[in-house]
This record gives sequence, structure tokens and C-alpha cells, in this order.
Amino acid sequence: MNGTYHNPLGIQDHMPLETQHKSEIQDRMRRLFARRGYRLIEPAIVEYLEVFTNPVSAIPPENMFTFTDGDGRILVLRPEMTTPVARIAATRLREEEVLRLGYMGPVFHYQGAEDTASLKEFDQMGMELMGLSGAGADAEIIALAVEALRESGLTDFFIDLGQVEFFKGLAQEAGLSEAEVEELRRLVEKKDMLAMEMLLISRGVSQELRGRILALPLLYGGEEVIHRARSYSAHPRCQAALDNLAAIMEALRQAGVANAVRIDLGLVQSLGYYTGAIFRGICRELGTPLLTGGRYDKLVAQFGRDMPATGFALSTKPLMIALERQGVFTAAAVPAAPAPLKIALAKGRLAEKMIDLLEACGIDCSQVRNPDRKLVLRDATGAYEFILVKPSDVPTYVDRGAADIGVAGKDTLLEQNRPLYEMLDLGYGKCRLCVAGFPQGVKKSVTGYNLRVATKYPQIARSYYAAKGEAIDIIHLNGSVELGPLVGLSDVILDIVESGGTLRANGLAVLEEICPVSARLVVNRVSLKTRSADILPLIEKIKAQLSENHG
Ligand code: PRP
Repeated sequence: MNGTYHNPLGIQDHMPLETQHKSEIQDRMRRLFARRGYRLIEPAIVEYLEVFTNPVSAIPPENMFTFTDGDGRILVLRPEMTTPVARIAATRLREEEVLRLGYMGPVFHYQGAEDTASLKEFDQMGMELMGLSGAGADAEIIALAVEALRESGLTDFFIDLGQVEFFKGLAQEAGLSEAEVEELRRLVEKKDMLAMEMLLISRGVSQELRGRILALPLLYGGEEVIHRARSYSAHPRCQAALDNLAAIMEALRQAGVANAVRIDLGLVQSLGYYTGAIFRGICRELGTPLLTGGRYDKLVAQFGRDMPATGFALSTKPLMIALERQGVFTAAAVPAAPAPLKIALAKGRLAEKMIDLLEACGIDCSQVRNPDRKLVLRDATGAYEFILVKPSDVPTYVDRGAADIGVAGKDTLLEQNRPLYEMLDLGYGKCRLCVAGFPQGVKKSVTGYNLRVATKYPQIARSYYAAKGEAIDIIHLNGSVELGPLVGLSDVILDIVESGGTLRANGLAVLEEICPVSARLVVNRVSLKTRSADILPLIEKIKAQLSENHG
């Protein structure tokens, strides 16, 4: 061991000041547990793998740290706390009819070798109410989530409340299979309108029903959303979901916390796991939710006890970052002026077009036109801040909340597959993602090696060929991909084709078309809500401008 020793990626030491802040928050949570009659338990950190691989599990095994015990059985560092609590409820506490339990401690996520930024160990605190169904129990746990955030010192936050049955009812009305419902859920979560539309068209869903499903993410706002959603679907599952939400809101009003809660029927996380009302806590200072929760009536049954349950988990680290940014833990003052809306622009061709569009919307872009090597620029009013980034980095800035909005090619978005809201097809930067090679096609090898695919898009290549059931070797290049087949490095390339000029000049041709590509406007998941008053009007202006350009 020498002086260069450092922690494994994603693992951190916690220094005295941070540790002090954390124990202050934990003390507050312990007091909340005691005040509300929630008993603190400490589930084991190591479990058998099968505890987490039940059919309703929310976390896939590839995202867990596993190892074996002396008998060769696979052990796992717990990836979340609710499942161990459910196991305990079904076994050691099975004599108790209703359980109110609280926990705090580390959980572990393995994100794959290519993820070099996410934390792999993080602390969670949570509360579980087991043995009670009905809106009263949901409201109790949501009110506790609000109380926990307030107790921590957080001032500016809200809880988004949805109901998975509303989505499931609509999907049933559309006659989708289970796999298609999951695919649609993923797209709704990302607000990828285009891909949603394509999936629904391919399933023969009527235009009228398509319109309703596509507008789901817009069912967001105050309690009036519940009334608006009444006419959405007569399906009994949808109507029951709305009855449930209305009853929960009524109970929350009586508890005096309804004003911290908004309705979001586009909220559709982990459908296999959640069975009813779901919610998450968000605040302006963070690009990702800091609290998630909901009803999970099928989990305890996986351990042999039929028991309805609801609960929430709060991640300590994001909470502490939010508190610091709100000035709770530091002397740093909260900025007095409203923060500008941050827009990440891909340097190069895509930026030019976007600048034209923004100017046409009346936004001053003179600084961006002449950046003079500066990377952060403002408009004259200070309402907008432009960040000039490499095209392939746009999704990273937006996902992590360093930018509220970004413009990136659909190819980059598909490759990175991050949870962003894709709000608008800007219609420029049009090209196609294709497989290309020599026009006579690929000569099959006698020794039968895998097809060698040279590409700037290894993730797209992996999933495209996996879907076709074809094994490939991926050769990851950063540019001039067409060289691959010319110098015998690969059999084909997977790349974007715009005019086709580069292919023609090199004696290559398109062999398969994968999908069309164009520039998309993407929005950070939390910014869309916390800054909706700035973002939605801007999107409307851009939309109007686009249709004027086309008209
Ligand atoms: C892109 C793409 C193709 C070319 C396609 O490369 O990777 O090589 O454009 O355009 P065309 O069909 O109009 O010929 P880019 O110009 O970004 O350069 P790179 O190869 O260095 O990445």
C-alpha cells in the first residue's frame, strides 16, 4: 500500500463535517419515528440473493453486489431496504397485524463498469406502514414523507403523487401485452412522445386513444388534475385510481399537508413493484428525486404473508446536498435573484440552428453567436444561461441538473439512454441511423466468427443486434467509422447517414435502416416541474416558431 491509494469508484469516505450533518439528520428522523410510533429496525446488510430476485423486485440482479458464502450460495449487499423489511414482516414479526417500522443505513448499487460517476454505496432512511390498505394508510405515509423533509430542515420542496392503476387501466384499454405495457411505461417515464406514438401505432391503437395516452405526462398540477382526468378513460381501473387519489388528497388536507402535494399521472416508476398510489419528493436544488415511495401490496406475499403495505425511502446524500444548497447547513446565502434557466447547447451544427430558433423566439443570443472561447454565456436579461458543451455530453449535463434544458441528436439520446424528458422534435439535424457496408453485403466467414461492427454507438449496436438475436463483436471508434470495412477492421459499420456522400465516396452502401434521427429538446426531470413556469412557455414559443417555419 502506498500514498496513491484511493477508494474504489463510487465509494466514499465521509469526513467529520459531513458525518456530523448526517447524524443530525438521523437524530431528527429518530425523533420523528418515536413521535409517530414507528419502531426503528436494523435489517441485515447481507442477504441471500433470492431475497431480492422475487418476481416483483424493483432492482435487477445485475445492479447488485454479489459474492458467495462458504457453501457456494450467492450473497448480496442489500440494494434497498424495503425488501428486507418485508422479509422481517413476513417472518420474525408475523404475529403483529399492523407494523409501523422505520430504518436507516447504507444500501449498495452496482451500476456496471462503464458507470464511473454514480455512488455505489449510499445511505437511506425510510418508513414502512404494513398491514393496512386504503387511502388513509397512503395519506399517513405521504404526510410522514412531508414531515420527514420538513424535519430535516428542507423548506422548498414538493411531493408528486400518481397512481399506477390509472396507467395500467389505459394500457388495458389499448389491449397491450405485459411486455408492451413495460415498454410504454419506460417511454412515458422519459416523456419520449415520438417513440410512444410509434409503439402505439404498431399495436393498432386508435388515434383517439393514442392521443389520450400521449397526453398522460401533461396530467400534472394541482388537485384539479384529478377532475380533469375523470373524462380521460371510463375504464374501471382508471376511475378507481382517481377515487383513491381524491380520497388520499382529502386525508392529506385534513392532515394539513395537501399544499405540499401535486398530482402527476405521468408518474409510472417500477410497475411490477408498486400496486397503487406512488409518489416522489423533489426540490429545485436537485436534478433527481430525493425521496420515492408508494404502495406495494405484493411484496410481503413473496415471503409467504399476504400483507398490504406502503412506505417511502429518503436518500441522505441528495437530501444533504439540497440542504446545503438551500443554505441550511452552511453560511452560504441562498441566491437572491432568480436563477437563470440553463440551456446546454451542442457545439457545432446543432447549436447554430437552435440559436436561430431561440432568436426567432425573441431571446438575445448575441453572446452565444460570438462566444470568444467562453463556455458559459448569458442573454441580455440574465434570464437564460447557455452552456456550450460537446454534443455527446448534452444528456449528461441535463440528466445531472447542470442544465435544465438541452438540445441533442436522437442518436446521442438513444446511445446514452438517460432518464430525460424528450419534449420536442426540433425537426433539424435530420439523418438516419444505419448499418452500412460493401454493397454486395457481408461475406459469411467459414470459421463463423461474430459479425464485426465498427461504430461510435456501442450501446445502440448492442441492443439492435441483441433484439435480432445476432452475436456481434463491437469495435468502438470515435470517428471516420467508414474506414472500418475499408481496412478490414470490421465487416459493417453502424453509423448515422445524412447525405450518403461519405458512404458513396468510399464504395459503401446502406444495408439496413435502424431509425430516423433529428435534434430533440430534452428537459431535466425535476426542472420540468420546479421550473415549469419558465420551461413550458419557452417550449410553446419554440413549437409555434417551428410550425411557422414549416408553414
Ligand atoms: C458523420 C457520420 C458519417 C457522416 C455521414 O461523421 O459519422 O461519417 O457524418 O454524413 P453523410 O451521409 O452526409 O456523408 P462526422 O462528420 O460527424 O465526422 P466523424 O466521422 O469524424 O465523426
